[in-house]
Amino acid sequence: MSRRVAVSQTANAAKLAEKITFPTSKRIAKNRFMKAALTERVATWDPNDRKKCGFPTPGLCNMYEKFSHGGFGVLLSGNVVVDPIHLESAGNVIIHKSVDSAERREAFKRYAAAFKSGPDNLAILQLSNAGRQTPLALAEHPIGASNIQLNAIRRGSGFGKPRALTTEEVKDVVVEDFAYAAKYAFDAGFDGVQIHSAHGYLLAQFISETTNNRTDKYGGTLENRTRLNLEIYEAIRRLVPVSTGFVVGIKMNSKEFQAGGLECEDAIYMCKEYERVGFDFIELSGGTIEKLAFQHLTESTINREAFFFEFAAKIKAALSTIIVYLTGGFRTVNGMVFAIEQGACDGIGLGRPITSELDLPSKIISGQVQSALFNPWDQDFGISNFASGTQMWQAQQTPYNPETDINNGIMDISDPETAEKYKIALQSYNAKCTELAQAGIPLHGVFEYQS
Ligand SMILES: Cc1cc2nc3c(=O)[nH]c(=O)nc-3n(C[C@H](O)[C@H](O)[C@H](O)COP(=O)(O)O)c2cc1C
Repeated sequence: MSRRVAVSQTANAAKLAEKITFPTSKRIAKNRFMKAALTERVATWDPNDRKKCGFPTPGLCNMYEKFSHGGFGVLLSGNVVVDPIHLESAGNVIIHKSVDSAERREAFKRYAAAFKSGPDNLAILQLSNAGRQTPLALAEHPIGASNIQLNAIRRGSGFGKPRALTTEEVKDVVVEDFAYAAKYAFDAGFDGVQIHSAHGYLLAQFISETTNNRTDKYGGTLENRTRLNLEIYEAIRRLVPVSTGFVVGIKMNSKEFQAGGLECEDAIYMCKEYERVGFDFIELSGGTIEKLAFQHLTESTINREAFFFEFAAKIKAALSTIIVYLTGGFRTVNGMVFAIEQGACDGIGLGRPITSELDLPSKIISGQVQSALFNPWDQDFGISNFASGTQMWQAQQTPYNPETDINNGIMDISDPETAEKYKIALQSYNAKCTELAQAGIPLHGVFEYQS
């Protein structure tokens, strides 16, 4: 096992152990760590029966029990899709009234219990709709803010030409789907939801001019492009009022890094609006499938670790009470504490480092480690994304057991030999993804690899 930095490099982790109070719900996160959303893609899937798709599985419960004992203040799920068609992948967890059943509600209660099985973390579901980023095999003509097609290949699959939602559909269907899912999460026992308005998914399609050329009240001006997220917030609060203590957050790009895309100044306006209506937190990220930004795009970001540091600092400076999490690139205590002390964020979101080590926050707070394990593919989101999916699958294979190491069974990619073997094995999985996509068969699950 090798780490980024030795434990002798003693930055003080006490800052990361501080509590965070959410301004609207008044709920308290026990420390500054948040498990970022990491799509799992292993929920039930039956291409012939939508009602059987999207149930959280016992394996997923195993994994979240482990995360819940890993020391996070906030545990966020991978994207849970609020529409049975517009998935980011077959195998997404789904909430929608057309597929509801007593059995699904029970599965969600067990899911929430797994998230809450450890000491005192908050359990938040990330709610999403993939819109035009729905793989072709799942929707030939997906919905979108506008009819602008995504020209990209992901896991072997392309994307169909979307049709623009009508004004009534946005108002009556999209808004209601998110609100319904939030109430569902509340009923199941979750502490809150985060609406996913980053990375080019449906809500992000509304806020960016690269994907929104509408002429109704949801397009054109910044005000109009922000409207949908505000309406979703209000609709959620009608079903789950502030008095319940339910947390509502949003994931948002700080910048899109593409011509005509969302700029930091737009994000500042939007985040001020989210603060005004009462969102508890904003998680800042960046990029889209068209222009991935989960790696260092310039030399200047390498030393300070966080990919979106400078944009987050500008956005946070314009806000007062809303909690700002920053996700992307954090690997060492130094980097995390620096970002907080420089005013770029209040909380730290962690993605890829925590699939190698589900209890990284505990280890950092107790002073056992000063950094994440080394990841040879940190500058290659393609491979590191697959590897994280595999590691999460490995974590699901055994239940949480306080007597054994939480990370037992998870491949150690900091070991060059293990990493090399995985990279070779991945080639055949990649070929299978392409074959399925060409045959029009949705890809369910992740690369199930045991080292
Ligand atoms: C396997 C994997 C799955 C992801 N799934 C989601 C997701 O469901 N929702 C989301 O908002 N971001 C998702 N992301 C992005 C992460 O939340 C995070 O923003 C990104 O990995 C950068 O953080 P990191 O450098 O700590 O990994 C995913 C990333 C990975 C690696």
